[in-house]
Amino acid sequence: MMELKFRKHAACSVAFLLITLFTGTWAHAQFPGMAQPKHYPWSDTSLSPDVRADLVIKELTLDEKIQLLHGMGWQALFAPVESGPATRAVSVLGFIPGVPRLGIPDLQMTDSVEGVSGAGVKGRYATALPSGEAMAAAWDPALSYEIGTMLGHEMRAMGFNMSLGSGINLIREPRDGRTFEYKGEDPLLAGTLAGQELKAEKALHIITDVKHYAVNDQDAGRIVVNSIIGKRAMRESDLLAFQIALKDSGAGAVMCSYNRINGTYACENPYTLTDVLKKDFDFKGFVVSDWGATQSTVKAAMAGLDVEMPGNDSFGDPLKKAVEAREVPLERLNDMVHRVLRTEFDAGIVDDPPQSESPNVMCGFEVAQKTAERGAVLLKNEGDLLPLSAASIQSIAVIGGHADVGVMSGGGSSQVSPAGGNPVPPPPELLKNPLTSFFEVAVYQRSAPLKGIEEKVPHAVVQFDPGTDPASAAALAKKSQVAIVFAVQHASEGMDLKSLSLPDNQDALIEAVAAANPRTIVVLETGGPVLMPWLDKVAAVLESWYPGIRGSQAIANLLFGDVNPSGRLPLTFPRSEADLPRPIHAGPPTPDADHPVPKLVGAPGMIGMAMGIGPFFDVHYDEGLKVGYKWYDAEKKAVLFPFGFGLSYMTYAYSELTVKPGDSTAVSFTVKNTGKRAGTEVAQIYASLPDSAGEPPKRLVGWTRLELAPGESKQVSVPVSRDRLTVYDEASDSWKLVPGSYVLRVGSSSQDLPLQQTISF
Ligand code: BGC
Repeated sequence: MMELKFRKHAACSVAFLLITLFTGTWAHAQFPGMAQPKHYPWSDTSLSPDVRADLVIKELTLDEKIQLLHGMGWQALFAPVESGPATRAVSVLGFIPGVPRLGIPDLQMTDSVEGVSGAGVKGRYATALPSGEAMAAAWDPALSYEIGTMLGHEMRAMGFNMSLGSGINLIREPRDGRTFEYKGEDPLLAGTLAGQELKAEKALHIITDVKHYAVNDQDAGRIVVNSIIGKRAMRESDLLAFQIALKDSGAGAVMCSYNRINGTYACENPYTLTDVLKKDFDFKGFVVSDWGATQSTVKAAMAGLDVEMPGNDSFGDPLKKAVEAREVPLERLNDMVHRVLRTEFDAGIVDDPPQSESPNVMCGFEVAQKTAERGAVLLKNEGDLLPLSAASIQSIAVIGGHADVGVMSGGGSSQVSPAGGNPVPPPPELLKNPLTSFFEVAVYQRSAPLKGIEEKVPHAVVQFDPGTDPASAAALAKKSQVAIVFAVQHASEGMDLKSLSLPDNQDALIEAVAAANPRTIVVLETGGPVLMPWLDKVAAVLESWYPGIRGSQAIANLLFGDVNPSGRLPLTFPRSEADLPRPIHAGPPTPDADHPVPKLVGAPGMIGMAMGIGPFFDVHYDEGLKVGYKWYDAEKKAVLFPFGFGLSYMTYAYSELTVKPGDSTAVSFTVKNTGKRAGTEVAQIYASLPDSAGEPPKRLVGWTRLELAPGESKQVSVPVSRDRLTVYDEASDSWKLVPGSYVLRVGSSSQDLPLQQTISF
């Protein structure tokens, strides 16, 4: 164990070693239900995970097999568990008892999108990380690996051996309440970053999971929505993101989503689950249903669903009966069990169970802050107002966003309990319904931007105005040298945004402050893009997303130039909702005789109510291949800020592009830091395919982060694999490289590509 911890904790390794030695947490306790005496035939670690799994299967009774394929039932979620295996659950929300007599461990699952969110259930502290969108905005695979390492350690410390992250649904609908959880609108970016995060967790012997499979691109009516989309569009976008993440990470589980895809539920869809995932992607792990997303027994099992969560309505007794009646053949049952067990051996949770210890808080802080700093995107900086000069500034007005007490975080299953409680008391009416308040209450993490700013300028007058009255905020702004408005937008699983506008009159607040003081800086804490009717009137805009428990320090470091902004947008900020592929956001229709509310097996009370379950409805993803920037490019629609965009306090010059085509095409170029500070540039490579390919104007095919000292030039070569240039041919169900001319373009955003070269295949 000792060797394992030291070897694998790349992030904060020294701090971790010291804390561990001096606090004596070394003598950690085993979690009940985790220990495996090492004397079974399958304990031989030289055997493959598949052989080991089959050795176990020979010993299992039918009841034990069934038990491995479902959670404890919804009852366990709503009533205290006083006896039986569920008493061993770290969180009953995600628990599958193992088979102690054979040394097969319990599966202890937690969400882990913005930190280990299952942690609150038994009272353990977990680091509140910035949102998934902030992680994506760093465009930094190495950072994603560090994030995964930190998450893996925290999960193990709390007794979890399976993670329910990462979420990589592509942003086809920016009003999706879960945009903050995901990793942007491009499959290569999302898949690569999730791949690194999950690879790191797996290296720490955690079963990892990618979700929500698939085309679950809005939350409004997520249980009754039918996503209608073409095969090619799906393969080259949403499914490609999963393909890349799975290949790079070796993740053990895929979570199928609530929605239907082309008329069939995602958790009983033979095309997505078996033809694509298990056959084409050669996925050897198991498919787990989203919570309450299993709608049948035989149909789901035969289509490729392996595990029902968190209940047992379909894969408990009904599955046993279906096996006994041979409606689900024994071979399929054994395949389901095999997939679970081989994943347990493959991830190492049988040989190396988690041990109880205190989470390494300092390590978490370090990773959270680094992510917030690298993920923040500077969108505007007129007249170089930023960075602020700490030495010369005399007065600052800090306005709005509860910046005196904390930073916004995302809600729902990924919500990390705020250490010390939510500093912003929710309106009492929201608390009346405990089922919906879980989603609706905006939770702030206790990291107050006001404090971060005050610490930078101890000599200056820094005053706070809550921003509830624009006139009072404007008066404070007027008498201050600089005004910083914190604008927040709460988003959560279970409810989509009503619009892309900032809520609660914040646009008017910003207008009023900017009119009073032209040196107005807006710091956004949002889940995704927002509209900015006031953009021309403010001097600077910094998008900090949901910046996590070190948001305050990160924001202050960025505003005062201790850190040079390097984040890039992982999704487009449109000019207006009229420019979206679906200007009107679709939701369930009002129930009537023609549109009754269906009776569903899954989606009981809690989830159904919060989702506003209603009659079935369709969402047509007619934009198809044109997701995000590809849509605006193809439709020639101007945007507010394009995909890949982000300013820094530096400028960079690009030159000397050479492209050598091949199985791996080498794209070489030089980037020079033409400014006076050190900075990090995210150099991006896009490809335009031959016209006959019928593709949107360009797609991201690679990128690299370059740290450059003032005046420094670096020559880099980025390999672009053949896969990045192919298209999905529906007729032959295969990927093809279309013969013709390819233009490779290089630069600092999808709309700033100064270098280009044409090659032929
Ligand atoms: C969410 C999943 C989550 C699960 C367990 C569901 O409501 O859609 O993302 O993993 O709950 O918390």
